[in-house]
Formats: sequence, C-alpha cells, structure tokens
Amino acid sequence: MSLLDEIAAAEREATERIGTADSLDSLNDLRVHYLGRKGVLTAFLKGLGQLPADERSSVGAAANTARAAIEQHLAGAKERLGSVKTEASFDPTLPGTGQTVGVPHIINQVMGDICRIFYGMGFEIAHGPDVETDYYNFEALNFPPDHPARDMQDTLFVEGDRLLRTHTTPVQARELVRSKPPIKIITPGRTFRNEAISTRAHVAFHQVDGFLVDEGVTLADLKGALVAFCKAFFGPEVKLIFRPSFFPFTEPSAEVDVSCFLCNGGGCQLCKFSGWLEILGCGMIDPNVLEIAGIDSEKYTGYAFGMGVERIAALRHRINDIRLFFNNDIRFLRQFG
Ligand code: DAH
Repeated sequence: MSLLDEIAAAEREATERIGTADSLDSLNDLRVHYLGRKGVLTAFLKGLGQLPADERSSVGAAANTARAAIEQHLAGAKERLGSVKTEASFDPTLPGTGQTVGVPHIINQVMGDICRIFYGMGFEIAHGPDVETDYYNFEALNFPPDHPARDMQDTLFVEGDRLLRTHTTPVQARELVRSKPPIKIITPGRTFRNEAISTRAHVAFHQVDGFLVDEGVTLADLKGALVAFCKAFFGPEVKLIFRPSFFPFTEPSAEVDVSCFLCNGGGCQLCKFSGWLEILGCGMIDPNVLEIAGIDSEKYTGYAFGMGVERIAALRHRINDIRLFFNNDIRFLRQFG
C-alpha cells in the first residue's frame, strides 16, 4: 500500500469512528489517536523528512488535507453530541426557573379588603356610573344649586348636566330610589376631581361609601359598625374618635380618626405627631336625602360613611406619594404581591 493510500485509509477509518462516537470523551480519545503528538497522522508528517524529495510534497499535502478533514469531522460531531441531552444531564434536584406571576393592583387589594369586611357584616355591594348627572352627584344629596358646599369638591364637567362623579355617594342616592328599607349597601368605585396632581391629590382616585336605612337606626349603630370595621382592618387595639364635621347629605356629620397604628397614639411622622389619622367621613343620613328618594323620613332613619381608598392604602403601607399608585412602575407594584 502506498503512503497516499495509507493516509486515505486512516482518514476513512477516522471519519467512520468519529461518526459513530457516542460521547464527548470518546471524541477526545479519537482526536488524540489521530491528531495527537503521537497520533496516526502526526506520524505521517513526522516521517516526511525520510522520504525522497519527489514524494515529500504530495504526501505532506495529503496528510495535511486529511488532518483538516478529520478536524472538521471532530468539530461537527462535538456540536452534535453537545446538543443532545443525555439522561445524565437532567438533574431534577436543581431549582426550577420561576415564572413571574401578576397580582391585583394594591388599590384593588385594599378596596377588596374593605369590601370583604363590610360584606361579612351583611352589606351588599352596589355600583353606579362614573359619568354621573349633576342631580345624583349633588342635588339628590341635598346640595342645592349654587350652594357653596359644591366648592368642597372641584368638579370635572363632561357636557350638559353630566360630570365625572366627585364621590361614590351618588350611588347611595340611586340605591335609595331603587330599593325599599331595610337597605344595607357599600359602593366601591372610581371618583374624579379637578385637582392639581401632587403627592397628596390626584384627579382620579377611589372611594368606598356605605349606608344603612331601616326603622330605628341611630348614631350608636353607626359607631358600632365603624368600630367593628376599624378593628377588623387595622387590628383589635385601634381606637376611634368622632369629630363633628359637615356634609350636606348627613346630619349630624362627623369625621373619624383612628389612633395611629405606627406609634399607637404616641406621636410620629405618619400622624404628624398628633397620634391620630383621619380616615373617613360619616353621619346620619339627612332626612331631606331620604325624602328626595321617596323614603318616609318619619318612619326610617339611616347612617352613611365614605372613605378614600388611596388614603387608607397609603397609611397602611406608609406610602408618601399618591402618584405611585398610578405610575404603573412595576418595581413599586411588585412589592404588594
Ligand atoms: N362623599 C364624601 C367625600 O367625598 C365622604 C362622605 C362623607 C361620604 C360622609 C358619606 C358620608 O357617605 O356619610 O368627601
């Protein structure tokens, strides 16, 4: 057999063995066997010096071509074996790759918590339109036309007598017309005001109103319901004070503060060193509101309350900028998962 035939035979043999190799280790053995320092092809190249001059170049060229071909086969086989997942490469004890799971927005979470507590106390849930009429937003709630109390809520008007509701209390006016006492309802939803957006105010926010109308309802019932709610929401230690206030749709009216849950009333930055945090408005439904809805105010009385969801969420999670709720910054929202 001539040297050229031997080289060709070595290349054929190498190609076949590489083609059937079943592991990276055996590929490496083949590389050493054919191309290593003492390898089959290396021997041909090393022996060139002993050959007659006229054979040297053709044998040298053939050996180099065979070497290049074998290297190419080795590289191809390495790729093939590297991409095959052998059983040994699957390790079930490795930690899995986690998927990011979405969560309800923090405002929806807090609104849900508020609603669940009242639902547990027997309140039904009702909704009304975001685009309201002047009648339900103001007039039916005992705000006479041109009454200065309308200035308490800077209104975004749509057209004609339509506006974006400034509070969720108009749902109370609607439900009073629709239902017969006893009525026990909460009304969560979006509200809108023409405010300059700042750390404390926004043009769109959320409220939950609630009210109860029946025979013999008194201020004591209102206090009982709100104390029960606050204990469930803020914890059993919480204390409440009722401060006299004014709303056109309640008489008497009050604002409720809870003892600061951060300092337990001792005074801190959250409560501005007063020990108290204002959380809601409330009162006995003004007899005018009942009469406007066609309910006999001699026979029935009722209480009502309303709270801002952003305010309560901000207090609970110590968030000092209301705009964070609406910026949709995933880094902020993820904290409430
Ligand atoms: N609607 C009032 C506001 O947005 C809050 C409020 C106060 C609601 C007293 C009530 C209530 O139902 O009885 O400022």
